Amino acid sequence: AMRTELNKLTAAILDAKARKAFQTEMDNFYMLFTRYLSEKAKGTKLDWDKVNEPSPEQIINYSSLSRCENPQHLNKLAVLKLNGGLGTTMGCIGPKSAIEVRDGMTFLDLSVRQIEYLNNRYNVSVPFILMNSFNTDEDTMRIIQKYGSHKINILTFNQSRYPRINKESLLPMPRSPAGDISQWYPPGHGDLFESMANSGILDRLIADGKEYLFVSNVDNLGAVVDLNILQHMVDSDAEFVMEVTDKTKADIKGGTLIDYEGTVRLLEVAQVSPEHMEDFKSIKKFKIFNTNNLWINLKAIKRVTEEKELNLDVIVNTKTLEYDKKVIQLETAVGAGIKHFKNAHGVNVPRSRFLPVKSTSDLFLVTSDLYSLNHGELMMNPKRLFQTVPLVKLGDEFKKVSNFMSRFESPPYILELDHLTVTGDVTFGAGVQLKGTVIIVATMGHRIDIPPNSLLENKVVSGNLRI
Ligand code: UTP
Repeated sequence: AMRTELNKLTAAILDAKARKAFQTEMDNFYMLFTRYLSEKAKGTKLDWDKVNEPSPEQIINYSSLSRCENPQHLNKLAVLKLNGGLGTTMGCIGPKSAIEVRDGMTFLDLSVRQIEYLNNRYNVSVPFILMNSFNTDEDTMRIIQKYGSHKINILTFNQSRYPRINKESLLPMPRSPAGDISQWYPPGHGDLFESMANSGILDRLIADGKEYLFVSNVDNLGAVVDLNILQHMVDSDAEFVMEVTDKTKADIKGGTLIDYEGTVRLLEVAQVSPEHMEDFKSIKKFKIFNTNNLWINLKAIKRVTEEKELNLDVIVNTKTLEYDKKVIQLETAVGAGIKHFKNAHGVNVPRSRFLPVKSTSDLFLVTSDLYSLNHGELMMNPKRLFQTVPLVKLGDEFKKVSNFMSRFESPPYILELDHLTVTGDVTFGAGVQLKGTVIIVATMGHRIDIPPNSLLENKVVSGNLRI
């Protein structure tokens, strides 16, 4: 029944070229759907007895990599940012990459700045690629116009657009290929392989002499090009390197690398059944997690997509649309591709390469004096003791970027902060300094205004106190 409906959608497209592209997309979607059905029927996801800690050869320490001797390897590199996501969780409309994060610069601006610097410094021309989704493409194209006069080669392509599935009938929601946009979804960053192949960008990069692709989340400010890892890609015969980093108690959500019958695989929380959750979360057994900074051999992507051997683990995402309509969307993660590539392994990198901005609490850190900006790259202030970040929890009143901005007259000084919790209606004047553990709680109906230039050190402020 699903196949018939997809054929109907395809037949509704009149233009032959557009129909062919749509057909390819629906074929890929259909493969994902059939895999979902068969996995649902089989019930089991993973044989936990076969899930082993990775061996030492499967995770190499960054410090043991040899130093890059030849920056000319950069001529073989392309950099790609996953740019399919929206900024909704931080209360923004449009692409997440368009959120201003530091000194008036957006995620996109910072990445562009980094690549421009790299290109200038080494006299190379590393292309900068954005994988957009139908949700982000239009805005992104408008935003990148401003780089038109810059000396940087920006390429974009769109990831696939798959139909949401009616949870009850297991039929596609859309009635026409062009209709209501809420009935379609971008199927996760695992779509990268197929959409690179389908869009023609893969062939183009290979034809231009590119061999390696550095992929990362656009919201990871720590994902800068690293020459030593590039050198490692050249020296080793690895087709896929995943940057992982040591797990702390706060990172239990992230996917981890495992050894499964001798091959390296990504294990995500969604694949773990409740009885093994404790095991999965343990930082003793699985010491590292995936930063989603990935280095992939382009020809190997070509092989894997041509041989149609891709079977990335299906992530089932259930959503409720208008009128309580329950739909499912089938997604995949790019890191799950690791199992298809030869000599694939992890490289355990310093934490500084993982600096994601998922919430305004993260934004609080990256806008503060804890970091300085250097050619689009954030560097932690060397004066910070132990080089760890404080634990920051800002309440719901700070959740949207616009609220966050209006509640701080200027970013507080936090070089000596360990822990900050803020709840309720709280505002901060300019030049506030926070040290040690600071807890500020404004109860319902009350407001706390922290006066300009105040110093709060190991302090609890509560009620409607005006200090
Ligand atoms: P996510 O939205 O998947 O991050 O976006 P997350 O859910 O917080 O979890 P992590 O970071 O995967 O642990 C991660 C990156 O992938 C892009 C987003 O734009 C972001 O840069 N993305 C996500 C796509 O490009 N396409 C998608 O379909 C989904």
